[in-house]
Amino acid sequence: MNGFRSGVKGQLVLVTGGAGFIGSAVVRELGKSTRADIVNVDKLTYAGNHDSVGAEAFDGRYTFVRADICDAVAMQEVFEAYRPDVVMHLAAESHVDRSIAGPAAFIETNIVGTYTLLEVARTYWEGLGLSDPEKANGFRFHHVSTDEVYGDLYGTDDLFREATPYAPSSPYSASKAGSDHLVRAWQRTFGLPTLISNCSNNYGPYQFPEKLIPLMILNARDGKPLPVYGNGQQVRDWLYVEDHARALIRVATEGEVGETYNIGGHNEVTNLEVVERICELLEELAPYKPEGVNHYRDLITFVADRPGHDLRYAIDASKIERELGWVPSETFETGLRKTVQWYLDNGDWVEGVTSGAYRDWVEKHYGEQAVDRANDG
Ligand code: NAD
Ligand code: TYD
Repeated sequence: MNGFRSGVKGQLVLVTGGAGFIGSAVVRELGKSTRADIVNVDKLTYAGNHDSVGAEAFDGRYTFVRADICDAVAMQEVFEAYRPDVVMHLAAESHVDRSIAGPAAFIETNIVGTYTLLEVARTYWEGLGLSDPEKANGFRFHHVSTDEVYGDLYGTDDLFREATPYAPSSPYSASKAGSDHLVRAWQRTFGLPTLISNCSNNYGPYQFPEKLIPLMILNARDGKPLPVYGNGQQVRDWLYVEDHARALIRVATEGEVGETYNIGGHNEVTNLEVVERICELLEELAPYKPEGVNHYRDLITFVADRPGHDLRYAIDASKIERELGWVPSETFETGLRKTVQWYLDNGDWVEGVTSGAYRDWVEKHYGEQAVDRANDG
């Protein structure tokens, strides 16, 4: 194990994508439960927001570098300047619908960006092997990925296991699958000490409101339609983001090099049920509704399905539970309640991220959905 969980100062963790939803939860958790120094490299795309990090709490242990992981020179400078012990690579384009509307950025960041980072990490690690063999021995590159690389589990009771063959359906999941393959190849061919984790759908505070749960909470709060794709019977396996962040730190520090760990919360729920539960929670937590709304659930609107939509994801997380002793601490009930309350309480953060670019996306994507719906009808 690398030591920083036990409080040894001097370990430096380089997080990519640390201004995003999960990356910021990782940075906050590293700040809270370890004494590691943290360098956060993020391009600050539409999905990145530095306010999510809460860096003021870190007592001088935190550095932010605004840079693109596809920029090899910038990445080299970061590695040379900060000499990381551990890399936790989360930077990615992450939204399936955007990958359908425009795949290029997904190929660029998820595949080319991961390749760039692997090459820079390899050069750095090989150099360490000559100058500081002990540090080279402890070095780890943890690549954070998704269960969507495994494809669709519809029509079976099976779960995704670490050995499940890859069968990605969307440009997003295909680009993540490509990046996972690169990471495995760099481990096997060059010996780079890598680890991979594949996690199910996350939810919780600071998630950009283009994803199902925050979108539904905020639309309902504002009395807008709740757009459920197709019949809403698709199943996702939900994990509270802070549980994921703790699992990632466990993998990065205690996982076995070369291994893959599946992470999930054992919470299989249909999309329609998720939306209905959000509506029920809002009835309790936000009883004063927008004008014209009798019940939040009346806002549920079935819209055109997502092309290539995977019908079911579900994770077997027994390996990380057994080998690394990680278990989630939130149930879907407790986590969803906290999440709804957080979005109700944090209007300023929501205001800050829902810029013109966000409004353009909503207009374009759901505007088109509305047209499809009218044509279907
Ligand atoms: P996110 O979209 O909220 O955040 C991504 C972050 O990466 C943003 O801060 C963005 O600015 C940054 N970024 C994007 N392109 C970059 C580039 N070229 N260079 C540097 N930074 C860049 O994503 P998320 O939901 O936090 O997901 C983080 C990681 O976890 C991703 O790799 C994703 O595939 C994976 N994952 C997500 C989920 C989920 O449910 N959200 C589940 C499993 C795995
Ligand atoms: P999403 O949050 O985009 O995550 P992912 O596609 O990575 O699973 O979507 C979760 C599920 O919710 C997915 O089955 C698509 C569905 N969905 C809707 O029904 N309506 C929406 O407006 C959105 C954004 C998603």
